[in-house]
Amino acid sequence: MTPQDSFDLVIFGGSGDLSMRKLLPALYHRHRDTRDTSGWRILAIGRQALTREQFLAVAQERGRRHIAAADFSDSAWAAFAERLDYISMDCAAAADYTHLVKRLGSTGERVRVFYMATTPTLFSTICGNLGKAGLVTPQSRVVLEKPLGRDLASAARINGEVGAVFAEHQIFRIDHYLGKEAVQNLIALRFGNVLFESLWNRNCIRDVQITIAETVGVEDRGEFYDGIGALRDMMQNHLLQLLCIVAMEPPTSIDADAMRDEKLKVLRALRPMSAKDVAAQTVRGQYRAGAVGGAAVPGYLEEEGIPAGSETETFVAIKAQVDNWRWAGVPFYLRTGKRMQERLAQIVVTFRDVPHALLPVSTSGSPCNRLVITLQPDEGLKLNIMAKVPGEAMALRPVSLDLSFTRTYRGRQWEAYERLLMDAVHGKLTLFVRRDEVDAAWRWVEPILGAWATQGAPLKQYPAGSWGPVSSNALIVREGHTWHEES
Ligand code: BG6
Repeated sequence: MTPQDSFDLVIFGGSGDLSMRKLLPALYHRHRDTRDTSGWRILAIGRQALTREQFLAVAQERGRRHIAAADFSDSAWAAFAERLDYISMDCAAAADYTHLVKRLGSTGERVRVFYMATTPTLFSTICGNLGKAGLVTPQSRVVLEKPLGRDLASAARINGEVGAVFAEHQIFRIDHYLGKEAVQNLIALRFGNVLFESLWNRNCIRDVQITIAETVGVEDRGEFYDGIGALRDMMQNHLLQLLCIVAMEPPTSIDADAMRDEKLKVLRALRPMSAKDVAAQTVRGQYRAGAVGGAAVPGYLEEEGIPAGSETETFVAIKAQVDNWRWAGVPFYLRTGKRMQERLAQIVVTFRDVPHALLPVSTSGSPCNRLVITLQPDEGLKLNIMAKVPGEAMALRPVSLDLSFTRTYRGRQWEAYERLLMDAVHGKLTLFVRRDEVDAAWRWVEPILGAWATQGAPLKQYPAGSWGPVSSNALIVREGHTWHEES
């Protein structure tokens, strides 16, 4: 066992939804599949006055709900539960930290991970209190959930206040999309193969599309979501991080700073949007009642916690441009929405047409080379190539070379949170976001928020169960492209 296999993980917001739905199930899996876990200690912190037994009962019930039946076993859960503890305290009250000090004891050399699964407005207070209580050791790290602030100023304030307690190398800003297996596979594909690099530029690539479509609505987060909207919830972080992985230059190594330096350059190369660009190149939408998967669902305004007449967007599509030598002139179409027709997260790289069409194309379908990286529902890679239709005539048809990770690699895939939690424990920052990346992302997003606030792009309605407002098709069709909507 290395020193890093022995750790205290303290989850603020430990009885909340993120903890129950993602963090504890992820830890359960890692615990079940790790040989020696005798050094693990997981402390959930919440305001609710629960005894350890009451907390464990709730966690087990939620675990059963969120862990696939084939992976859940009472004995594995019971072994995991031995590592779990609960402290009821008010994390905003400095005096309450004596409970935590007592529970953690004097384990200065042990790795301590403080996970902020709370609202971001509490990050600074909690970190300040941890500092004052003397709980921050050189072996401590803090994990910050998104959204980090509402804009550049609030993000800078949170980063500054957290930075007064933790050094930058101790701060793990999580973007769980970076923990997805398919995203890491894109890094492998780009930098572990010679095949694509010479084609990976404006000379050969016509456009890039990144879609994260969800079928769920705002679920039980209505009130919280209404103050955020899709641009802050998904675009400022997940979609821009995916764009960075597609567009970055090869780093000199996969060390955290080498990777993050290159991602930062991409964020800084994003062409700033004027109010006129925002009107022409962004679409914001809100779902109304409709049907998803055959079931009727309410509109956004009918969801619990949403104020009457809310103008919060649940869909956004943007045409972005990366102004550098590699990408000049290549549109990056980004879109995300709730209550869409399918759950689909994809990066689609469309290559240019051949310079001279020698052979006829026999069928409909896209007569071009396309690389489709699917993050969900089923992780995989498809490369569309043109092949001859069998028979006498010499005609072409698109076919795809298809790599499904689930079929190729047997066994379950790690969930994003499993990888990222263990990376935080092991002090690996590569898949976490650096402060200057957050700032650069906000810098690009802010003018869009500003223009929207002054009616630069009116809110469009779309029926739940569709692919978003029709104007999002117009955004791309007028340039001769179409959204790729096949899983
Ligand atoms: C979160 C957003 O970051 O990502 C949610 O806050 C969204 O609104 C979720 O539903 C989507 O994550 P995934 O991994 O289910 O696609």
